[in-house]
Amino acid sequence: MRIDIISVAPNLLESPFNHSIIKRAQDKGLAEIVIHDLRKFGLGNYKQIDDTQFGGGAGMVLMIEPISNCIKQLLVERNYDEVIYMTPDAKTLNQSTANTLSLKENILILTGHYKGVDQRIRDKYITKEISIGDYVLTGGELAAAVLVDAVVRLIPGVIGDEQSALTDSFQDNLLSPPVYTRPAEFEGMKVPDVLLSGNFPKIDDWRSNQAYKRTQQIRPDLLKDE
Ligand code: ADE
Repeated sequence: MRIDIISVAPNLLESPFNHSIIKRAQDKGLAEIVIHDLRKFGLGNYKQIDDTQFGGGAGMVLMIEPISNCIKQLLVERNYDEVIYMTPDAKTLNQSTANTLSLKENILILTGHYKGVDQRIRDKYITKEISIGDYVLTGGELAAAVLVDAVVRLIPGVIGDEQSALTDSFQDNLLSPPVYTRPAEFEGMKVPDVLLSGNFPKIDDWRSNQAYKRTQQIRPDLLKDE
C-alpha cells in the first residue's frame, strides 16, 4: 500500500512512522509512506500557504492554490483509491473504516491546520473525511498518524501473528477480554483457573463472555450499533 500525506508540519510525522511495526512494514515493502511538505507549494517569496477567512473571523485558512498544486502533482504519478481529509468535523474513525482502508492500494491524506482548508478543496478532491475523536488537535498530523497506524497494522504480513490483529478490540464490535501472562500468581493475585485449564473451547467461551461483559460495562453504545 502506498500512502501519501500532505502536511504543513512534516516533522511531526517523522517519529510515528520510523519505529516499531510501522517502520518494519515499510522495510518489508508492505507499506510505502511518503510525506509532502505543503510549504514547498506556497505562493510567492514567502511561500504563503494560509490567509484570513472571507467574511471575517479569527483563524487562518489553508489556501486553495498550494494544496491544489500539490494534489495535481501527485495525481500525475498515480490515482488514489481515497483522498482523505483529517478534520474534527467528520465521522469518527472506527475499526470498520480501518479495515476497509487497509485493502486499498493508494491513499492520499491531507492534514489541516489553523481553521482548516478552503472548502473548495474539500468539494473538489476529498473523497472521505475522518475525525479521530470529538476534540480539536492543533493540526491533522497526529490524527493522520493514528489513522495510518490503525490501517497499516492490518495489512496482511505486517503483524507476524495474523490472529492477533483479527482478535483485537472492536474487530467484532466488542472490547477485548482481559489477558494474563506468567507468573500464574503474583502477590496473591491469581490468573483465572479457566485460562490454565487447557480446555480451549471453554477458554473461548470465557473470553467471549468477558468481552461482552466489559463492553456492556464500559461501552454499551457499541452493542447498540449492531
Ligand atoms: N484535526 C484537528 N483535530 C482533529 C481530529 N479530532 N481528528 C482529525 N483531524 C483533526
